[in-house]
Amino acid sequence: MTKSLQLHTASIVGTGSYAPERIMTNADLEKMVDTTNDWIVSRTGIRERRIAGEKQAASDLGAEAARRALADAGLKAEDLDAIICATISPDMGFPNTACFIQTAIGAKNAFCFDLEAACSGFLYALEVGRNLVATGAYKTVMVLGAEKMTSFVDWKDRNTCVLFGDAAGAAILQARAAKHGVMPAALGSDGSLAELLMLPGGGSRTPTTHETVSKGLHLVKMAGREVFKHAVNNMVQACKDAPARNGLTIEQVDWIIPHQANLRIIDAIGERLGAPRQKLIINLDRYGNTSSATIIVALDELARSGRLKKHDKILMVAFGGGFTWGATVVEWDR
Ligand code: ACO
Repeated sequence: MTKSLQLHTASIVGTGSYAPERIMTNADLEKMVDTTNDWIVSRTGIRERRIAGEKQAASDLGAEAARRALADAGLKAEDLDAIICATISPDMGFPNTACFIQTAIGAKNAFCFDLEAACSGFLYALEVGRNLVATGAYKTVMVLGAEKMTSFVDWKDRNTCVLFGDAAGAAILQARAAKHGVMPAALGSDGSLAELLMLPGGGSRTPTTHETVSKGLHLVKMAGREVFKHAVNNMVQACKDAPARNGLTIEQVDWIIPHQANLRIIDAIGERLGAPRQKLIINLDRYGNTSSATIIVALDELARSGRLKKHDKILMVAFGGGFTWGATVVEWDR
């Protein structure tokens, strides 16, 4: 990893999140597939998840999170120079979801694009946004994770349908005088393991046909046990690399926000890092896995809980399809 040219420091000046009102509990799932509340809670830690309405798309969730982040930052939509939306459940193949969010909130001065890195998407987008601000080229950048995962879940597959939910979160970046803010990330990918976690149909490799739909290729496929092993190993390593890259130790970190896929993954990471449970932020019991939205929703909830203090160091860590993974340390300066 090279040392990055750091002209400005990008700080998070506002956050917002939104989860749809409708709750699907494990008891609801018991009526849909051959599963039990006990299995889901003991194997994943998930108790309920939010389900977007039929007419709600990822951009509708993202736009609400964006409005809340703007209000939190005391900014207007016209102040945004760029909107980067991490998503694997875009409104459609194109145009990008960020453009739909732009129109919904009236951010007419922003350039907008999506970034796809599955569940690591928010941390990848944060690193891109940080660099746009750090170079001084752009003043105000919004980074989102927005997902309607339930549109791509196979509701007949008990291995995956119990895991996912819908939500969105947004963070606004600006240059501030603070020394650290959002620090350079430690990101990684391994495309050779793509087949362990993918949505194979509907792209140029396998365009949509009646046959692809009847085989369910437009829905998430996951080799859960294999993914679990890689998730723990790569997230633990990223949790060591990101602080080290910025001259910090894991002991100097005040909070760890892991991607919310499975409580057993989070516990394994905490154990391997020797991190006390109270440092780990966990909300997957209420939302399940909302892919690129998990980390920013958890950060927004932590910020609004009043528990964050100025200069607290927050380590965020993710793992997802690709495989992709990464970790970022943020020094909170609000
Ligand atoms: N209810 C009851 N039984 C079930 C269910 C269910 N919902 N799902 C699976 N089972 C059964 C299986 O059929 C299997 O039965 P068998 O032993 O008779 O074959 C048994 O439970 C054990 O199955 P495993 O898959 O081995 O269970 P595991 O303990 O590994 O838990 C899980 C599965 C929760 C998916 C776990 O492997 C996991 O969390 N994996 C990682 C997920 C992740 O991190 N994803 C990354 C991000 S997602 C993204 O990027 C989009």
